[in-house]
Amino acid sequence: MHGDVRVMATLGGLRSDEVSAAFLAASLKHWRTHGYGLWIWRDPANGAFVGRAGLRHTTVEGKPEIELAYALMAEYWGRGLATEIGRVLLAFGEERLGLTGIVAFTLTTNRGSQNVMKKLGLRYERDIAHDKEPHVLYRTMR
Ligand SMILES: CC(C)(COP(=O)(O)OP(=O)(O)OC[C@H]1O[C@@H](n2cnc3c(N)ncnc32)[C@H](O)[C@@H]1OP(=O)(O)O)[C@@H](O)C(=O)NCCC(=O)NCCS
Repeated sequence: MHGDVRVMATLGGLRSDEVSAAFLAASLKHWRTHGYGLWIWRDPANGAFVGRAGLRHTTVEGKPEIELAYALMAEYWGRGLATEIGRVLLAFGEERLGLTGIVAFTLTTNRGSQNVMKKLGLRYERDIAHDKEPHVLYRTMR
């Protein structure tokens, strides 16, 4: 995924194996610390890797937040899967973990991701700078 230009165009660009290994180590540490994090999502028909998505601790403009994050391989875009996965994750976060005010954010230009946020019922809160790029921040109402 980190070597696919289509996926990474909206995620800060391609990542080296070294950066990907550090990302994986940080993701696994998040699981050990919090008991949840990013899941791998697979096609139930054949086990193929569809993408990664989950809930994770992050910092937005210096403040701690819980983020709904998702990224799918390009072959799986446009089938409603990010929305379906997002629904499952929000229900898990709210009902099982008792989380409120979960955020999602993306580049101002990433219309597909913003559509997912709107379809999930998140509300636009404000424009933010993240990794020095202009982003929009959405938040759940619960
Ligand atoms: C963004 C992403 C997760 C969307 O996944 P997906 O499974 O295709 O999303 P869904 O099908 O559930 O919904 C996407 C919606 O946006 C629309 N859309 C997709 N690309 C669009 C674009 N460029 N402009 C406007 N709308 C767009 C789709 O038509 C759909 O809306 P609809 O159901 O009303 O037709 C996927 O493209 C992706 O993984 N991109 C790379 C990583 C990324 O950007 N992740 C998000 C970072 S916050």
